[in-house]
Amino acid sequence: MTGHPSKDIIGTEGKELKAKTIVLCITGSVAAVRCSEIARRLMRHGAEVFVVMSEMAKKIIHPYLMEWATGNPVVIELTGKIEHVALVGEHQSKADLVLVAPATANTISKIACGIDDTPVTSVVSTAFGSEIAVMIVPAMHESMYRHPIVAENIEKLETVGVEFVRPRIEEEKAKIAETEEISAAVMNRLTTGRDLVGIKILITAGPTLEHLDPVRVFTNKSSGKMGVSLAAEALSRGADVTMVYGPGKAVPPTNAKVVAVETTEEMYDAVASELRSKKYAVVIAAAAAADWRPEKAFDHKVPTSDVTEFDVKLKPTRKIIEAIRKINDQVFLVPFKAEYGLLDEELVERGYKRLIAAKADLIVINDVGREGAGFGVDTNEVFIVDKKREITHVPLTTKREAAKRILDVITEKMKSE
Ligand SMILES: Cc1cc2nc3c(=O)[nH]c(=O)nc-3n(C[C@H](O)[C@H](O)[C@H](O)COP(=O)(O)O)c2cc1C
Repeated sequence: MTGHPSKDIIGTEGKELKAKTIVLCITGSVAAVRCSEIARRLMRHGAEVFVVMSEMAKKIIHPYLMEWATGNPVVIELTGKIEHVALVGEHQSKADLVLVAPATANTISKIACGIDDTPVTSVVSTAFGSEIAVMIVPAMHESMYRHPIVAENIEKLETVGVEFVRPRIEEEKAKIAETEEISAAVMNRLTTGRDLVGIKILITAGPTLEHLDPVRVFTNKSSGKMGVSLAAEALSRGADVTMVYGPGKAVPPTNAKVVAVETTEEMYDAVASELRSKKYAVVIAAAAAADWRPEKAFDHKVPTSDVTEFDVKLKPTRKIIEAIRKINDQVFLVPFKAEYGLLDEELVERGYKRLIAAKADLIVINDVGREGAGFGVDTNEVFIVDKKREITHVPLTTKREAAKRILDVITEKMKSE
């Protein structure tokens, strides 16, 4: 016998979680039906998963399912074996992370108050004492999620380093995050450092659009994916992220605060107001804000029957980057610059000129004309240039990896300044 046959899947999709032990704590939410999928996704990336269930969780799914899914015995009560200590006590083979998924309003609030009266809450309490990372994935009706005390308890737990993978609000429910998002958050937490804890980052992302009339707009092909990847990466490293987001297609991470805007003027105002009201350490301007808007916008839909041809005069919009420096001369400013069809040298040269003009700290330049780079796709190639004209080239890779490299350079430069 080489162990439980269910463990054959360990590491079949990646080695990111190799040699990592995760304790998956399940509480009494219907979203518990997703737990075998979550456990097995983590296993496929190399993790060993042990499950702990609350009494109520047992009424929703049977522990046999989780024993099958993980190939390990499931803890449903604490016994003379002191299962909570065996899993997450202060010893050599303690687990690396406790994932409470799904987490009920009840369990979240108990954890926030230091109560431990279920196998799940006892494991979490012990993990705190052993300095093991705790990640919580809430699922409940929206009304419970909006309960001010539950909201306050979530905030309280965040201040002691608990990472939340926020639910999606749909059909009046705070639905458990997607398995992909949960596994990505776990991988990030265990594979990258938490080097951005306590850092406030403002990210602009997506396109903006300018109205010609109430139904017709001028816009560009930005999807918002690069900005969303930056937000997700920054969040996983512990940053406090606000996105000022134009109408992009990419879905912002649930943990980011999102200020939705439409026009460049709205983006400008939102950025200015954020900078005036909070102490941001970093601004990453990844949005493709429209540079021009029609001088005259019609307040009615221009009828095609009356007008066959007409001229539209475009006026430049306000430059958001210039405003940022005027409002805050301390913030670490990282604008993006999109070019089209240039050679590397020219790309860097134009970016550098822009960096100097904007009094920026770094600039990220990409050529949206290159294969696999730029608007709408999941990959990108970027050049990161600093004030001394030092260049970091990130060859074609996923936008998430490019985001990681950009944040690596930002943290490195901020330390050396
Ligand atoms: C079918 C069913 C589904 C439930 N779903 C949720 C839920 O999604 N979120 C939640 O906070 N509570 C939910 N509850 C209520 C909790 O199970 C209840 O608050 C329980 O005391 C939680 O105990 P636990 O946190 O120890 O698991 C549900 C209850 C039932 C019977």
